[in-house]
Amino acid sequence: MSSWVLSLLTFTAVWMSSCCRYVQGGNLLNKKTYIVHMDRRNMPAAFADHTKWYGSSLKSVSEEAEFLYTYKSALHGFSTRLTPEEAELLVAKEGILSVTPEVVYELHTTRTPEFLGLAKSDAVLPSSVSESEVILGVLDTGAWPESKSYDDSGLRPVPSSWKGACEVGRNFNASSCNRKLIGARYFCKGYESALGPIDETMESKSPRDDDGHGTHTSTTAAGSAVPGASLFGFAEGVARGMATRARVATYKACWMGGCFASDIVAAIDKAIEDGVDILSMSIGGGVTDYYQDIVAIGAFSAMANGILVSCSAGNSGPSPQSVSNVAPWITTVGAGTLDRDFPSYVTLGNGKKYTGVSLYDGKPLAGSLIPVVFAGNATNSTNGDLCLSGTLIPREVIGKIVVCNRGGNSRASKGVVVKSAGGAGLILVNSEYYGEELVADAHLIPSAALGQKAGDEIKKYIFSDPSPTATIVSGGTELNVEPSPVVAAFSSRGPNPLTPEVLKPDILAPGVNILAGWTGAAGPTGLSDDKRRVGFNIISGTSMSCPHVSGLAALVKAAHPDWSPAAVRSALMTTAYSVYKDGQTIEDAVTGSPATPFDYGAGHVDPVAALDPGLVYDTTADDYLNFLCALNYTSDLIKQVTTRDYSCDTSKTYKVQDLNYPSFAVPLETASSSTGGEGVVTTVKYLRTLTNVGNPATYKVSVSSKMSSVKILVQPESLTFSDAYEKKSYTVTFIASSMPSGTIGFASLKWSDGKHSIGSPIAFSWT
Ligand SMILES: *[C@@H]1O[C@H](CO)[C@@H](O)[C@H](O)[C@H]1NC(C)=O
Ligand SMILES: *[C@@H]1O[C@H](CO)[C@@H](O)[C@H](O)[C@H]1NC(C)=O
Ligand SMILES: *[C@@H]1O[C@H](CO)[C@@H](O)[C@H](O)[C@H]1NC(C)=O
Ligand SMILES: *[C@@H]1O[C@H](CO)[C@@H](O)[C@H](O)[C@H]1NC(C)=O
Repeated sequence: MSSWVLSLLTFTAVWMSSCCRYVQGGNLLNKKTYIVHMDRRNMPAAFADHTKWYGSSLKSVSEEAEFLYTYKSALHGFSTRLTPEEAELLVAKEGILSVTPEVVYELHTTRTPEFLGLAKSDAVLPSSVSESEVILGVLDTGAWPESKSYDDSGLRPVPSSWKGACEVGRNFNASSCNRKLIGARYFCKGYESALGPIDETMESKSPRDDDGHGTHTSTTAAGSAVPGASLFGFAEGVARGMATRARVATYKACWMGGCFASDIVAAIDKAIEDGVDILSMSIGGGVTDYYQDIVAIGAFSAMANGILVSCSAGNSGPSPQSVSNVAPWITTVGAGTLDRDFPSYVTLGNGKKYTGVSLYDGKPLAGSLIPVVFAGNATNSTNGDLCLSGTLIPREVIGKIVVCNRGGNSRASKGVVVKSAGGAGLILVNSEYYGEELVADAHLIPSAALGQKAGDEIKKYIFSDPSPTATIVSGGTELNVEPSPVVAAFSSRGPNPLTPEVLKPDILAPGVNILAGWTGAAGPTGLSDDKRRVGFNIISGTSMSCPHVSGLAALVKAAHPDWSPAAVRSALMTTAYSVYKDGQTIEDAVTGSPATPFDYGAGHVDPVAALDPGLVYDTTADDYLNFLCALNYTSDLIKQVTTRDYSCDTSKTYKVQDLNYPSFAVPLETASSSTGGEGVVTTVKYLRTLTNVGNPATYKVSVSSKMSSVKILVQPESLTFSDAYEKKSYTVTFIASSMPSGTIGFASLKWSDGKHSIGSPIAFSWT
């Protein structure tokens, strides 16, 4: 198995610093953790129960090996510590599907309800009773139970369907849970067996969140409304989650050293058994085949149990094909900006002014203009321009504003590096890679983050002036910023690197400068030098956009409790928007040019429209089994992904493109010159089925395309629905001319009855 890493997807890199302390503890006798998938239905008759059978299989290769966990809902099997030789012996035994080594997963609001149109549409929202029946599971770093966002005033008793628990542990007792935070569990056996015992002076061996990430994500999804919330006065207002009355259950599987696969599976296992309705996972990593991807495997079982699984798309943008969590039964969420900014103004000695962003609120800089220096001129190391720890020469920066390039370490650490070398202020400038995207951080010194263009001009000034000067002034909170949303540069992009016929990411949601609840155990930057403590913090990442969609999915679920996860996702996707009010396409922060469905999927989420979509593209567990058949998966591989015994019908032709998805991705091959080149035409046909969830109506299709090289035919062009839940199918035929490899192009398709509009993006890519 490839060594892909899974990480929390906040767009900072503070986690890795503390990991290495633990490493000495592990690796006794060269043993490693393995996740063992068992063929549960083929248990020999001699065994009374599965655990005995698993135990006997394990004992046959190792006398002293013990279970870390046994799994029964996310997958069938167990995890244990084995030597590589023992693992190899085990995989050859009867009834063992696979033995996979542990993956060390590295760790990857006030305004959003208004921005999303939730604040003024109470009339169409689900009733508070049905909303409070929805349970939202969050797999993350736990919860800080004292956060005001978990206040349970006015909430009804815990839903009777709830089968979970409030596990007690260090700094966390039964009274830490309430009618908002109804469940809390922690999973650290995989972590401890690899890295040694948890250092309890650093983090609590309990569901308590000493990091902040899990509190932020869960309160973004379903935090109660807290008036007067802010970070140092920034973003002041009512902080509230998307589904303020939904319940939260936290599953802590991420620790300072990372999230371990064996712990993640155990957490998903429990979330399924406990009865969550939505599972939010702001984690991710590299892309592997579905049968090797623990998150995809766990998510399948969750989906089959009616749970909508929402994951972050990743923070590896803007590189193409960087999107992760691409399984079609997962809702994959990219990140966009809000209409809110935190300006910080830079003035240079030559009179030029630039506007950046910052969340610094401390003492302003003394004097109107002070010396400014480029970090690359105040260092002896080759990457000194990045302000990496210990690379600045104090004599060169003392009392000055230091210009640092983005990249290499976290943005917040750069401020600490400048401060500890004696610098007075920080101007953080983007490389071409990050373009004009601005992400605000709660630095410990006056700061401004600027785009590439401003950065280049400032450096030019510094290099040409014998005694350059500058100043930085903070500008508070600015609202109604346009254009918004803009796709964040860091948000991971398509095309889908694993299954190009499925468009990913699915949808865009707010993920830049998001205010939500925070831990009391760490400062807003998460750095150990940061001794400040805050009730709310503003951070960025697809980690933040994922719980927005999780919370909005909870609202749709509350309004339509009988809808499948696919129906809920379809409602969110087909009502999403990809143009601003003026008709211009949503922009990409990197270029300022129009973004594409490979960046935003179906578009930006519009929760009010999602409550009444008219029609949905529904998908069952069986549809996904047929999808795996189309990928030519063997029965054993299908069993590994789905825990089901399923044989593909050899007389049937399965097509990947017929998966009933709410969007269209059409990979096309470039004809080689030997087969005729230019004139070659490829025809592909996609099948889709719509389910009526509105009143009886006739829908007509319209196709919008600027692609002259592809003809798009929809048959039939009109669909009439007379009954609730009636299904009608249609086909889309794409007749495409050969284009040079690397060409991409876009179109869209829309069904409308005059009242509802069910939109789907179409993305072409020639390889
Ligand atoms: C544990 O519960 C008691 C009340 O029963 C409470 O006073 C105490 O603060 C709790 N401790 C923690 C860490 O939550
Ligand atoms: C500062 O660094 C820039 C870019 O590396 C270089 O062009 C310039 O000559 C340096 N200035 C001084 C005074 O060293
Ligand atoms: C940087 O390099 C210069 C010239 O080689 C040397 O004199 C100076 O001591 C170095 N400074 C540091 C902090 O390493
Ligand atoms: C599956 O196998 C068939 C027959 O060999 C082949 O035509 C098809 O391209 C394969 N599909 C995939 C996704 O590999």
